[in-house]
Amino acid sequence: MVLLLGLAACKPEPEALLMPENRPFELDLPAHFPEMDIPVDNPMTADAVELGRLLFHDTRLSRDGMVSCATCHLQHLAFSDGEAISIGIEGRTGLRNSPSLANVGFAPRLFMDGGVPTLEMQILAPIADENEMDHNILLVAEELNTDPQLTALAQSAYQQEINPYTITRSLAAFERSIVSATSKYDLYLQGEAMLTEEEMLGMELFNSDELQCASCHSSALFTDYEYHNIGLYLEYADPGRERISLDQNDWGKFKTPSLRNVAFTAPYMHNGSLNTLEEVIDFFAGGGESHPNKDQRIQGFEINQTEKDALIAFLNCLSDESLRHNPAFYP
Ligand code: HEC
Ligand code: HEC
Repeated sequence: MVLLLGLAACKPEPEALLMPENRPFELDLPAHFPEMDIPVDNPMTADAVELGRLLFHDTRLSRDGMVSCATCHLQHLAFSDGEAISIGIEGRTGLRNSPSLANVGFAPRLFMDGGVPTLEMQILAPIADENEMDHNILLVAEELNTDPQLTALAQSAYQQEINPYTITRSLAAFERSIVSATSKYDLYLQGEAMLTEEEMLGMELFNSDELQCASCHSSALFTDYEYHNIGLYLEYADPGRERISLDQNDWGKFKTPSLRNVAFTAPYMHNGSLNTLEEVIDFFAGGGESHPNKDQRIQGFEINQTEKDALIAFLNCLSDESLRHNPAFYP
């Protein structure tokens, strides 16, 4: 506390320094959401989340000081980036489309191939990846330790300086705080909003045995967190899940993406190859390519323009405007 006051006196601006005691951070989840598994060794606290928020927007995490997590995960795009393939340091392109981070705290494994088990570990990937931030976390920590606002928060949250431990923990805590649960669909489930006739038709189609959308995009999070080959290609350039499992039967399988906020996350698919929701529906209606690993459920179906519009109207009900304007996630 003495330290905090001392720093606050010579640098009065950051309010975070004046935070009296670190308090638990309460997640506000509606009843229709699952529980979030929060690791016992990284409890959510206000200062941990606050430190993570600052680091998320800090370009000092990249080697040239130009790229932050938020460069590729923009709040107004539900923390995706609008590019087909993400662009990192010095204009380098990676392999995949940047996914939304909304509700990422519920995911049992990270990345489209499930290559990483925890958010804490995931953070090491973009910092080190030569196409993303191309930096060394030890050097990042060294530089950030000269920032009194960050070091004070790290001390308060973890009783440690800025180091790989506090960087990864706090970023993970911040990411768990990115909950999106106030879409029109949520308000409808809570009896606080009505869906239009068109949106209701779209919901029926989504849940129908013929379209099968809800069998993979299941639960309140609109994903089963499983890996499926949907027949996007006959020959996939990206092996997907096979990259991790080394099992040929997993070639071309990708983690089912949540459809929450899908109106903000174009372009679609692991490589951003489809530009609009209409193109996505046309793809599923066509039944995809006959890849040997293609899921049985992707068989194609008949759909007219009225039904297509209705399905898109329903998907648009999964948009959470307040996520895009929530100051808790601002830089
Ligand atoms: C250059 C762009 C870029 C930067 C910078 C970047 N990411 Fe990502 N992020 C991506 C892409 C692309 C993926 C998808 C990779 C995959 O699934 O293989 C991704 C995936 C993720 C995932 C997994 C989401 C899921 O549902 O599986 C998380 C979490 C994440 N990023 C958080 C971060 C954090 C935290 C930072 C900063 C430390 C960061 N990202 C920096 C582009 C970026
Ligand atoms: C067999 C499981 C399965 C079924 C059935 C299914 N999907 Fe998907 N869906 C996926 C997977 C897996 C992906 C990601 C594929 C990729 O990245 O290559 C995906 C991607 C999408 C995307 C792109 C999301 C994004 O962020 O890139 C949308 C939109 C979508 N599906 C909507 C639907 C609709 C609408 C239906 C019903 C007509 C449907 N899906 C049926 C598994 C499924």
